Amino acid sequence: MEVNKIKPFYMVIFGGDGDLAKRKIIPALCHRFLDGQLNLPFEILVISRSMNDEKAIRSVFTDFIKLSCTADEKTKFTKQIKEFVGKITLLTIPENKLDSYGPLTDHLIRNKEWERVFYFSVPSSAFGEICQALDAAQLITSTSKVVLEKPLGHDLKSSREINSVISASFKEYQIFRIDHYLGKETVQNLMVLRFANPLFERAWNADNIDNIQITVAEALGVESRAGYYDNTGALLDMVQNHLLQLLCLIAMEPPATLDPDTVRNEKLKVIQSLRPFTKKTIAENIVRGQYTRGRVGADKVNSYLEDIQKYESETETFVAMKTYIDNWRWKNTPIYLRTGKRMKKRYSDIVINFKTMPHSIFPESNYPLMNKLIIRLQPDERIELVQLSKVPGPGGYRFKPISLELDFLDSFKDRMPDAYERLIIDVLRGNQTLFMRYDELDSAWTWIEYISRNWKKEVPITLYESGSWGPGDLILEHGTKWQTR
Ligand code: BG6
Repeated sequence: MEVNKIKPFYMVIFGGDGDLAKRKIIPALCHRFLDGQLNLPFEILVISRSMNDEKAIRSVFTDFIKLSCTADEKTKFTKQIKEFVGKITLLTIPENKLDSYGPLTDHLIRNKEWERVFYFSVPSSAFGEICQALDAAQLITSTSKVVLEKPLGHDLKSSREINSVISASFKEYQIFRIDHYLGKETVQNLMVLRFANPLFERAWNADNIDNIQITVAEALGVESRAGYYDNTGALLDMVQNHLLQLLCLIAMEPPATLDPDTVRNEKLKVIQSLRPFTKKTIAENIVRGQYTRGRVGADKVNSYLEDIQKYESETETFVAMKTYIDNWRWKNTPIYLRTGKRMKKRYSDIVINFKTMPHSIFPESNYPLMNKLIIRLQPDERIELVQLSKVPGPGGYRFKPISLELDFLDSFKDRMPDAYERLIIDVLRGNQTLFMRYDELDSAWTWIEYISRNWKKEVPITLYESGSWGPGDLILEHGTKWQTR
């Protein structure tokens, strides 16, 4: 696939004084700059509704950039970090009205031929009015791009409404819907693992695989996002996007090429083949949980209700579900998805449990004779192939599971770039492979919405203690266990 060159650009970040910009977007841009990839003219225009102290915001950005650097990088790049921060301008736009866009227009017309990337790091309810104001100020050109942060709406209808206002101003090739999980190095490696290693791909189907488990466990609670989280919950915050995207990469058919639409066509087919839930299967195959007080590591932590200071909330902080993909490759293979906050520790793993031997010649074995491929996405990125080995010594056959391990940090010594670094560079290059297309998002909402509309009646909240693994066992088939770290 042809790689487009990055051209001089303006990065205009709406919500640029928010948490995401400080923690992710600005440090990601800075790292690409330090790496020499942004060795061309560019400026960053940070838009805030209320903040007007440019010196203060530059100093906050500098602190966050330094936080994202290794000790070596901090000393080696002091001068370059200063140079990068000098490219940031703060613009205060209190309201999305045409006459408030004057200062932005003044900047953008200074270099008319530069590309304009409008990054919407604000709630999706504000996307429409920003688009309309940009349009009215005639700031959107045919080479402009828009980056949309999730969640895009709260159901199918609102997602479609957002899409229709965005697509009134931008064409689909200009729209980049971010799911930062797709930018993680280990997630991209799923494509390589599957499609560059024939050994795995030949066994990648219902004939050989017993079940698949995807876990995204977090140790953190809702932190400072109580308002957002209580209106969203784990199903929409994590399953509708991150877990479904991981599932797509694990389950999709090999795309014919790496062309963005070819890849996204295959992902779309996975979402379209997800078995729709019914009221009965929701009750049987989904668990909703909410954390109570407990201990995570050495820390005593509050319950969710205490965290959000709203004692009647029934919002879930944990979801586990068993689902199926109804196609030839995956017929009747259980797929377990699990995510939760305040779990015992933070990790994301995909576990492929292969089928057991049809017949055991080792009658004394206590182990099920099965192999596992464990893909550890974060932290400590690793791939493990678990096989049974004989414990040395006389006295019959005793088994022990032993892993063949590929540790990414050992094999590739470099710093693992943050997901946003890859994604922002892809936006600048106009490569949409790792971004969700409209129809993918639409299908994901269609599947999820049946659950979110019906599950409150069918599945009461199960409380789980903070620092535990949550109530995911309730949906496991007999003999299956969650693989935990
Ligand atoms: C975000 C969710 O999209 O992903 C958060 O809104 C969650 O609730 C976060 O904490 C997890 O991302 P990561 O990269 O830390 O696994």
